[in-house]
Amino acid sequence: MAQIQLAGISKSFDKTEVIRKTELEIEDGSFCVFVGPSGCGKSTLLRIIAGLETASAGEVRIDRKAVNDVDPSDRGIAMVFQSYALYPHMNVRENMGFGLRMGGTPKAEIAARVTRAAEILQITQLLDRRPAQLSGGQRQRVAIGRAIVRDPKVFLFDEPLSNLDAELRVQMRVEISKLHKSLGTTMIYVTHDQTEAMTMADKIVVMRAGVIEQAGAPLELYTNPDNAFVAGFLGSPRMNFFKARMAADGENVATLPDGQKVPLPALANPPQPGEELLLGVRPEHMDSARADARLTLPVDVIEHLGTTNFVYATGPAGETVVVEKRDHADATSHVHCMIEVTNMRVFALTGARLR
Ligand SMILES: Nc1ncnc2c1ncn2[C@@H]1O[C@H](COP(=O)(O)OP(=O)(O)OP(=O)(O)O)[C@@H](O)[C@H]1O
Ligand SMILES: [Mg+2]
Repeated sequence: MAQIQLAGISKSFDKTEVIRKTELEIEDGSFCVFVGPSGCGKSTLLRIIAGLETASAGEVRIDRKAVNDVDPSDRGIAMVFQSYALYPHMNVRENMGFGLRMGGTPKAEIAARVTRAAEILQITQLLDRRPAQLSGGQRQRVAIGRAIVRDPKVFLFDEPLSNLDAELRVQMRVEISKLHKSLGTTMIYVTHDQTEAMTMADKIVVMRAGVIEQAGAPLELYTNPDNAFVAGFLGSPRMNFFKARMAADGENVATLPDGQKVPLPALANPPQPGEELLLGVRPEHMDSARADARLTLPVDVIEHLGTTNFVYATGPAGETVVVEKRDHADATSHVHCMIEVTNMRVFALTGARLR
């Protein structure tokens, strides 16, 4: 088990800075997920923790000790990648034990650890097969098994499920969460799938362009996003954003493009009179019984998912607006959006949250 700290970590490739002054603490035994769009620096940050990449500045600390100069193999870390890279000529048992064999672990010890890991992952019946005789999900399990046998202090996963089909992804997601529960080992998991982040993490770290936008518990980020990027990144379908303008007379009221006035929640730093704003409302909050604002929008498409319905409509500025209607979503030409102020998040046009 291990606690991890990133203190002022920066990373440049040549002159391009891809990670900027990152501060982060990952609690011992927690499941931390790095999430963000492609190219934002998730893998690079993970590789810096593993020691596969050197930081240009800052310190990586494991259990409060700086490990910048510690060899990757001595950091007590095991990494699982998207491409499982199993040796095709070895069977599962040999693949799982390979790292230990290279490290000089006695044979009996290797056998015991492989047996135990195979039991945890329920792949005992596959130990004598070669990778070519396995399904994608089974191969990914072997790759995880290869990490488990090393008994690491920290597991690092870099998009381990992205080669699997949708159904298998969901299944493996649950498996990895269960694994975390039973092992209690610190895990850091990289994905660009916000659903994986929301469902697996104790702590989500949302990254964009080399910077951590916000870190915290999934529901904390979901309900209290620091900015419009985090608000829009977490949640599916994503949060609706409406452009609005602050009243000119100093009242705490904004005007929607259709001229409708919407009361705003109390803001510690209210915007200037006449300033443009973004009002964020999630699809599940567009059908409130106690509406402070009502919009009637033309319907484009209705998705019936069985448990719920998503109505896609065209918003006041031509944007797509998604309204969740849980009980009823009959085919109609227009949808009534009913918005309650308490469920509205207010952002400046820069994306910063106005509180
Ligand atoms: N070895 C390298 N040399 C130069 N630039 C690099 C190198 N590795 C990564 N980069 C750049 O650093 C940035 C971050 O890359 P990184 O692989 O960490 O992104 P990522 O968030 O993992 O993206 P993805 O979701 O696509 O895997 C990208 O702009 C990438 O082009
Ligand atoms: Mg990556």
